[in-house]
Amino acid sequence: MEAGSQLGVRQLSGFKDFYQSVNHTRVIAGRDLLSSTGFEMSKEGAKRVFVVTDRVIRETGLVDRVVAGVEDGGLEVAGVFDDVPQDSSTDVCDRCGEEARAAGADSFLAVGGGSVMDTAKIADALFTHGGTAAESEGFYLMPRADDGMGAPLPIAPLACIPTTCGTGSEASMGAVVKDHERKVKLEIADFPLFPRLAILDPESTRTLPPHIAAATGMDAMTHAIEGYVSLDCNPHQDGRSLVALRLIRDNLERVMQDPSDDDARGQMLIAASLAMTISLGSAHSMSHPCGAHFGVPHGVANAINLPHVIRFNAEGGSDIADRYREINELFDLETGGSDATAGDALATHVSGMVERMGLPTRLSQVGVPEEGIPALVEGAMGDGLTLLNPREPSDQDYEELYKRAM
Ligand SMILES: [Fe+2]
Repeated sequence: MEAGSQLGVRQLSGFKDFYQSVNHTRVIAGRDLLSSTGFEMSKEGAKRVFVVTDRVIRETGLVDRVVAGVEDGGLEVAGVFDDVPQDSSTDVCDRCGEEARAAGADSFLAVGGGSVMDTAKIADALFTHGGTAAESEGFYLMPRADDGMGAPLPIAPLACIPTTCGTGSEASMGAVVKDHERKVKLEIADFPLFPRLAILDPESTRTLPPHIAAATGMDAMTHAIEGYVSLDCNPHQDGRSLVALRLIRDNLERVMQDPSDDDARGQMLIAASLAMTISLGSAHSMSHPCGAHFGVPHGVANAINLPHVIRFNAEGGSDIADRYREINELFDLETGGSDATAGDALATHVSGMVERMGLPTRLSQVGVPEEGIPALVEGAMGDGLTLLNPREPSDQDYEELYKRAM
């Protein structure tokens, strides 16, 4: 039985029985915004700001410029936590929340990529409500008023300055970090995790290394494509996905060719925040265990897995293939022919982009051994996003998809 018919919602277009579209984040985009960080954060009620970042970003001098911008607005910097690793984890979130409390902070400012922003979100929730990151896992499980029946309780104001163009975490209610003990990617999502403010300024991505620009850009592309064909797709997200794809089409490879192109990086920042959704699918379900077990960077794993998932999904029915045909139109690809042809055209196009940008195209190139497949299959089957994939994958399907991706 298809996942959709199981859920009674396999309806990729037409008027849906139900969906909700939520975005609480105030996004400001433009040039020379970093100096107004304090002014903008004061509008969110911040007074003593705890900055979360990583050492690499700190060494570029960006954090100093942002800190100056916070102080220019009359706010204090309570502390700077620069200990977020490339692939953050529950213990880092716990430590970050504790340090913010010890510093007497009242708000958070994340300056970094997905790992930094997700750490700041979870640390903020722990800072506000107590507990540990491991205990906070789950969707819509954060504390609520009226014994859990009322409105979700807000967390301390959080502002994000993304330094990569891809994750979109600055405009989402989700956070994903590693749980080393359980060897899984722990996913937390709830309305209070929407940052209050996202500052999209290409200056913050100026030192982005090209291979990270490529990988994170492919993460954004995966969000846009998976969001468009997810069982949870809806017209609000469709609009965001299609505009994001147009911006990615016109700007991602431009960023790779000329890293100094501020306009292209600015457009990619906007694409990433537009594409963001937690209604994704099997490419993400396959990529999460690649990160949890073998440390494959998220964007790289998506870039490798996405084409295989597109081919698999497109053969799952014309309603799915038609959604890919709409994306094909945008990329000026084959829209006629069989469902398999439509999927193949988009998958081939995605692989071509990945190759041109010099990213790895096979899991075996990024340290995933063939013997690792059973653990990956188990991880993908257990990942909540599998339920949102338009075609229901079985264990054998995932095994086959991983084999193709090797
Ligand atoms: Fe992602």
